[in-house]
Amino acid sequence: MRFSASLPLAAIALATLITLAPISSAPQVPKVAATPPMGWNSWNYFAGKVTDKDIRDSADQIVASGMRDAGYIYVNIDDTWEGERDTSGVLHTNSKFPDMKALADYVHSKGLKLGIYSSPGPKTCAGYEGSLGHEEQDAQLYASWGIDYLKYDLCSFIPAVMEKQAPNDKAAQMRLMVAAYDKMGKALKATGRPIVYSFCQYGWDNVWEWAPGIGGNLWRTTGDIQARWQSIYDILSQQKGLASYAGPGHWNDPDMLEVGNGKLSLAENRTHFSMWAMLAAPLLAGNDLPNMKPEVKAILTNRDVIAINQDPLGHQARYIYSGGQVEVWTRDLKGGAKAIAIVNVGSDVYSTHPFHLDLAQLGLHSTQHAKDLWTGKAIDLTNNMLIELPSHDILLLRIANPR
Ligand code: GLA
Repeated sequence: MRFSASLPLAAIALATLITLAPISSAPQVPKVAATPPMGWNSWNYFAGKVTDKDIRDSADQIVASGMRDAGYIYVNIDDTWEGERDTSGVLHTNSKFPDMKALADYVHSKGLKLGIYSSPGPKTCAGYEGSLGHEEQDAQLYASWGIDYLKYDLCSFIPAVMEKQAPNDKAAQMRLMVAAYDKMGKALKATGRPIVYSFCQYGWDNVWEWAPGIGGNLWRTTGDIQARWQSIYDILSQQKGLASYAGPGHWNDPDMLEVGNGKLSLAENRTHFSMWAMLAAPLLAGNDLPNMKPEVKAILTNRDVIAINQDPLGHQARYIYSGGQVEVWTRDLKGGAKAIAIVNVGSDVYSTHPFHLDLAQLGLHSTQHAKDLWTGKAIDLTNNMLIELPSHDILLLRIANPR
């Protein structure tokens, strides 16, 4: 009797729900990382030396250089900010970061967001305090400071938990790793604060397959980048085949930018930036911003290249073919447009390497009107045309109406 009486009520409730449900079946725009996160991270230049002052100076410079207005919003503190836990388990900053809340307020006052770093293990990679056993407490602490982004770096979790609890059992070790990332994901979610969640576990266990399911907004696909062409090229090569895993809210992360660092040539800086844009990679600059050279600033703030990276469809570039030592990658953009990257990846610095463009391989048929995104000039692409590029240089093109 009770059962049958409740049926009409359920039917009414259902009908109401159906009437109120949004008619559009358009995919929801994610709360964070709808396009690849853009910003700056302290590690590639400052590493363990970073201080509160460096973060403030960098935030100032992001604004002064025009980077903020070009889309660089996250200012991320990497490893070595951590101090000790008190008797209640609350983590404190070390003397390099006297007041994290004040720092967050400062960064926010500039129209920027603040990111931080931790590990699921007992220690971070640099040997500072990790979050093991304190996940909820740390997530709450980050939220209370006003943190907007967390990079969570596997490191000591490997020996301290995976190898200890599941010796010689790779599958069980991987389950422990996934559970650790899931745990922090839930803890971040429970804070109610929108916090970008960045996995740093070097691509283990095909992270791209499971990270989005447990709240990962981006995940490193490889080991650490270095400011050398070979490192950049090796990482680029490892992105082949990962395009289908990227999309709004969840991105492959080929590691932070080295643009402006080390001895990279101008061509290498340009190619590195262009290809990370093509890959829908997070664009986290990692250079010394207060001493940035004008040509480096020009690369990092090229609006046309950033627009490729931030295209709302979020389609990561695919490798199409190579001719000799020239590789061709393409990416579909909103409104039917297409981006094409033609890169001379060869290591012979002094010679040029003739390459003839095969339009059919790109699914294109007649002459294409394109824009060269580094010179800003119009260029007509014809089949079999000769393209000569110096070593490690790139031709980055946008075709508004491919035919
Ligand atoms: C690892 C990460 C780097 C950086 C350092 C910090 O090596 O992959 O990006 O965060 O740790 O210790």
